Amino acid sequence: MDIRSVGVVGAGQMGNGIAHVFALAGYDVILTDVNEAALSNAVATIDRNIERQVSRGKVTADDKAAAMARITTTLKLAEVGPCDLIIEAATERETVKQAIFDDLLPHLKPHTILTSNTSSISITRLASRTDRPEKFMGFHFMNPVPVMQLVELIRGIATDQETWDAMHAVVRKLGKTAASAEDFPAFIVNRILMPMINEAVYTLYEGVGSVKSIDESMKLGANHPMGPLELADFIGLDTCLAIMNVLHDGLADTKYRPCPLLTKYVEAGWLGRKTQRGFYDYRGETPVPTR
Ligand code: CAA
Repeated sequence: MDIRSVGVVGAGQMGNGIAHVFALAGYDVILTDVNEAALSNAVATIDRNIERQVSRGKVTADDKAAAMARITTTLKLAEVGPCDLIIEAATERETVKQAIFDDLLPHLKPHTILTSNTSSISITRLASRTDRPEKFMGFHFMNPVPVMQLVELIRGIATDQETWDAMHAVVRKLGKTAASAEDFPAFIVNRILMPMINEAVYTLYEGVGSVKSIDESMKLGANHPMGPLELADFIGLDTCLAIMNVLHDGLADTKYRPCPLLTKYVEAGWLGRKTQRGFYDYRGETPVPTR
């Protein structure tokens, strides 16, 4: 099926990255959010991030201008309803996502494909509340979206082959690579990545190493581009905790027990880069470890 128009719901870190890559790949993008400031910040961020690609010779100035012209924003969720493809990239809370799909349903075209960028919530359960579980699937981008090569395609129990094939073709048009995952808690990337991050927090909690020594160990000892605590701050500690809870609840295995120190940081509102404090304090010139 021919996909031309794409609605992105949620203008946060993931939503703006998704709008960025779709607009550059030639799709018409409508970005929606409940918050006017989030929409204007998202457009400014996309402009800045495409400019980085222009300055490194990866994108031409003309391509940038064309991509920016393909992005429109709206506060009205109903306006994204008629798009060929909708990608929900709102807060990682099931009630929020369900409310968005409930509100969208009356405005969809019969052929509209619905997807969620959820990093861990059951696709089958989200799909079951819609009128089109066969045209519903998980479409999981990695952060930062313009840089990361992978997109996880998650098939709900009812997802049909035509929908999966259409999304696979979209991933190719974006110049990215798809990995197919079945619909079990946290899919593939987060099933493996989050227990590693949680273990790094336990390593800190038990005093085995400091923030600096844990991150340096994994950067220099395992060639990871970021240390696990730096990466946790980058992803958001609330998101990391939410994913550990999904793994713990969904797989009922104590090995997925979230570290109490991770919970404590989240309770403090120290959520990482987005709140300027997490395992590092970002308020000064250079990040300073908080433990
Ligand atoms: N938009 C466009 N370009 C961007 C960008 C953005 N948002 N962020 C970085 N870049 C570009 C830079 O311009 C730079 O381009 P060149 O290679 O052409 O110079 C390149 O990306 C590298 O960036 P920097 O030089 O600024 O910094 P770096 O070399 O330290 O790399 C990084 C930054 C790409 C983020 C790297 O540290 C990295 O790969 N970190 C790990 C990221 C990761 O693991 N992400 C997955 C998180 S898990 C997830 O997303 C799933 C989930 O559900 C939670």
